Amino acid sequence: MRIIIAKDYKEMGKKAANIIASQMILKPESVIGFATGETPLGMYKELVDLYKAGSLDTSKITTFNLDEYYRLSHDNPQSYAYYMHENLFKHIHIELSRTHLPYGMCEDIEEECTHYEEKIKNAGGIDLQVLGIGRNGHIGFNEPDVKFEARTHMVELDQDTIEANARFFPSMEDVPKQAISMGIKTIMGARKILLMASGAEKARAIYDAIYGKITPELPASILQLHPDVTMVLEKEAASLLTIVQGKQTREFAV
Ligand code: F6R
Repeated sequence: MRIIIAKDYKEMGKKAANIIASQMILKPESVIGFATGETPLGMYKELVDLYKAGSLDTSKITTFNLDEYYRLSHDNPQSYAYYMHENLFKHIHIELSRTHLPYGMCEDIEEECTHYEEKIKNAGGIDLQVLGIGRNGHIGFNEPDVKFEARTHMVELDQDTIEANARFFPSMEDVPKQAISMGIKTIMGARKILLMASGAEKARAIYDAIYGKITPELPASILQLHPDVTMVLEKEAASLLTIVQGKQTREFAV
């Protein structure tokens, strides 16, 4: 596991964008797994800037998002499809038919999940999966007590997640309670993982994910078993790590 500590949110976005850009440079037809939420917003802006500066060819990539709210259509401004369009897709040259998110308005959830997995497989698997992390250690929407064996599936969101997501909705009642998410097995199948975290409220989850025991109660702890994980952490999110610096991971500030 590689841990890169950034001095602030902006630098975290820049460093993460550079890693994603390197992936696209080394393999222009990369399959990239994207995340939504507040954490990667700065990274998307940096990617768009790199694209606009002519430093990035995004025309051949394929993308798969981690998750989508259940029963939000893709043109709903709170949907993750809308988020991706607003923050990335509409600013770069990308074949929209090669961008994928689970479809929250599907009629048959089982079929949608199986189909999503098939599309990932047919694309050759995910080269680089971007992740954020919940305060409760969730990755994607795999909440505590997740089944490590699960692939894309329907999830019931934790109360903590619903409360954290409420900031994006007009009222608590509007916050979806269910979502379709890649499972841990899908995420672990990615060849490389890039996890980003920002803010002191993520520090405990980050500490436990790196040094804690591997347990479904802290879904991100499974990443200890992945052979190629890079974490780009804004310094507040990394604030609990320094006390055990160098013990089990290579930590370095860049
Ligand atoms: C988003 C996702 C979630 C978020 C996590 C952190 O696609 O899968 O796991 O990454 O909830 O959200 P923010 O970045 O808003 O703190």
